[in-house]
Amino acid sequence: MEYKKVIFSGMQPSGFLTLGNYLGALKNWVKLQNEYDSYFCVVDMHAITVPKEPKDLRRNTLELLANYIASGINPDEVTLFIQSHVSAHAELGWVLNCITYNGELSRMTQFKDKSKKQESNAITAGLFTYPVLMAADILLYQADLVPVGEDQRQHLEITRDIAARFNNRYSDTFKIPDPFIAKEGAKIMSLQDPTSKMSKSDSNENSFILIKDDPDTVIRKFKRAVTDSIGVVSYNDEQPGVKNLINIYSKISGKTPDEIVSAYDGKGYAQFKEDVAEAVINELKPIQEKIDYLLKNKDYLEKIYLAGAQKAEIAARKTLRKVYKKIGFIPK
Ligand code: TYM
Repeated sequence: MEYKKVIFSGMQPSGFLTLGNYLGALKNWVKLQNEYDSYFCVVDMHAITVPKEPKDLRRNTLELLANYIASGINPDEVTLFIQSHVSAHAELGWVLNCITYNGELSRMTQFKDKSKKQESNAITAGLFTYPVLMAADILLYQADLVPVGEDQRQHLEITRDIAARFNNRYSDTFKIPDPFIAKEGAKIMSLQDPTSKMSKSDSNENSFILIKDDPDTVIRKFKRAVTDSIGVVSYNDEQPGVKNLINIYSKISGKTPDEIVSAYDGKGYAQFKEDVAEAVINELKPIQEKIDYLLKNKDYLEKIYLAGAQKAEIAARKTLRKVYKKIGFIPK
């Protein structure tokens, strides 16, 4: 059989996906899926690093799976599974915890950001060691490439450090993975403050587009998107709001930023915003319909995640067996 390189990626089932999740990660997965031996995971174990209602977690997990498929992930070609179904993630996570240093984890900017949002006595050890579990996810499958948005770059760096450390200490075991962070769309910004990342935890609902947003909501949010008083559609850092809209449009239409800028030469922001909104609405419509359909077919979703877990389990166990042997655990 022809050897394909491996990709691994995942998302947290923590509510509705944003346009940032979709353009920064999911859309790239869809592009790459056939070229690689692909593993896509719903990382429910990561989601519980902050408090979650069990019934919400259950619903969000299935919704995220439906979202993956509705966005174009082909469950017949890739391995699509739920993290907690493959216990090797927790097991390798523990081993890697034992070669990861407190100091390096306390430098993680996502930990600092997320822990600011929690009461100080509610910051869990799980939130702190989150990147180690993420390293386990990736290294179990000997992934060559990890397609993510810009905000995960630091987590990929620590994954590489942990893998190299293990290989040095116990001999070559893990493939050192590379991040795949696309040039455009790797950081979709807030529509209300284009200097910060689009995130659904933002208290201002106008700052993010959700995959589930209906056309009127999408139009309203883009109309209110913060731009500037320059009034010329151009692609530069002095106009971060316009730049963000161009990035969104570019990622959806496949046109380059330059092409977009020349198409709007002499036109104002109003027309441009309307066109961006329309492109987003057209992109989301079939996805929304497919999500609704899939969520009415839970048996189908179940079949997919059970088959995915079986396939993932085989690859993951193979790596875990090697790891256990190398560190000196007695095989049973
Ligand atoms: P999560 O669930 O926060 O986000 C999922 C993916 O969406 C990307 N993303 C964005 N991209 C562009 N612009 C934005 N505004 C934006 N917001 C989010 C993220 O970069 C990510 O790719 N730690 C991961 C989940 C994870 C994982 C893994 C990823 C766990 N194990 C192993 C890769 C490999 C996370 O919290 O993503």
